[in-house]
Amino acid sequence: MYQSLIRPFFFQFDPETVHHFAMRCMASPLFPVLASALGSTCDDPVELWGLHFRNRIGLAAGFDKNAEILQATYALGFGYSEIGTVTPRPQPGNPKPRIFRIPEASALINRMGFPNDGLEAIQQRLLDSQKALKAKKAKKAKPFPIGINIGKNKDTPAEQAADDYLQSFRQLYPHGAYFVVNVSSPNTPGLRKLQGKEALKDILVPLLEFRQSQPWKPLLVKVAPDLSENDLSDILEVLTDLGLDGIVATNTTIDHGQNDIGETGGLSGAPLEAKSTEMIRFIHTQTNAALPIIGVGGIRNRDDYLRKLEAGASLVQLYTGFIYQGPLVVSKLLT
Ligand code: FNR
Repeated sequence: MYQSLIRPFFFQFDPETVHHFAMRCMASPLFPVLASALGSTCDDPVELWGLHFRNRIGLAAGFDKNAEILQATYALGFGYSEIGTVTPRPQPGNPKPRIFRIPEASALINRMGFPNDGLEAIQQRLLDSQKALKAKKAKKAKPFPIGINIGKNKDTPAEQAADDYLQSFRQLYPHGAYFVVNVSSPNTPGLRKLQGKEALKDILVPLLEFRQSQPWKPLLVKVAPDLSENDLSDILEVLTDLGLDGIVATNTTIDHGQNDIGETGGLSGAPLEAKSTEMIRFIHTQTNAALPIIGVGGIRNRDDYLRKLEAGASLVQLYTGFIYQGPLVVSKLLT
């Protein structure tokens, strides 16, 4: 029904307008109650970093930027959610329109530029939903780890980028199950330069120093699919040397290939699937399977999902596949 009726209806409207409408529906207290049957078959438990996941499939960063639909994400059967990208100060992102569909390729191009409510507001929302999730836990709900993806504000100069990451990491530390340093979005000028060896160390070292005084939580880095093997090897060396806990591969690609529709931004969905899987395999081999990988990019069906696991991913995430496949996507991937 989603693909034959609901999706064609939604696809008549601007993607971001539909996203806001869907977010409003999912944020309503009724939605988790109505949707909970969808998620009830989504159990395939796994443990990683000492965290329990009801299954390996998470909602990728960018969908629930402001932690507004955690209850709904849980009800739809996702094993976990990665909120953000969160920046210290609220910011509006790039001018609209900034999301474009390519239906014939099951793809999207976006140049959102991290619109988000900022650290303070998101911290408060996390506090509120954690209370609600705890109350559910008392009623024997499944585990639902929340990852927090952090980035820098657009107007923070590159030399001060590390301060932005540290500020969000410190303040949100009690509220996340794991953390992701996002240095791979193509839509914040200069952000991907932070994937360079020295810049990355400058960001990560203060975070690790702060973590020493805290209960341990996993820290990961999210990378772009457009890195050369040499640049990726450099990143892996930094992550291994510093003792990072995992990598999220990958973000959207700036290589639009046959899907060039004359819009700048990052391409996601089916055209990214092979490229991100290849990158996961490379990371898995290079690190002798020692670095846990969250595999993301173009997962639409069970075969895509299994290919990511076979390439070496321990967990996966999706965003575009959720838009194209609809609310049953998690159970479809699992069975
Ligand atoms: C994203 N993605 C993303 N990633 C991130 O780390 N922070 C973010 O804020 C966003 N925002 C965002 C917005 C939109 C509209 C899209 C489509 C994507 C990237 C996302 O998390 C994922 O890495 C890629 O989209 C690849 O996965 P899919 O979409 O092919 O499953």
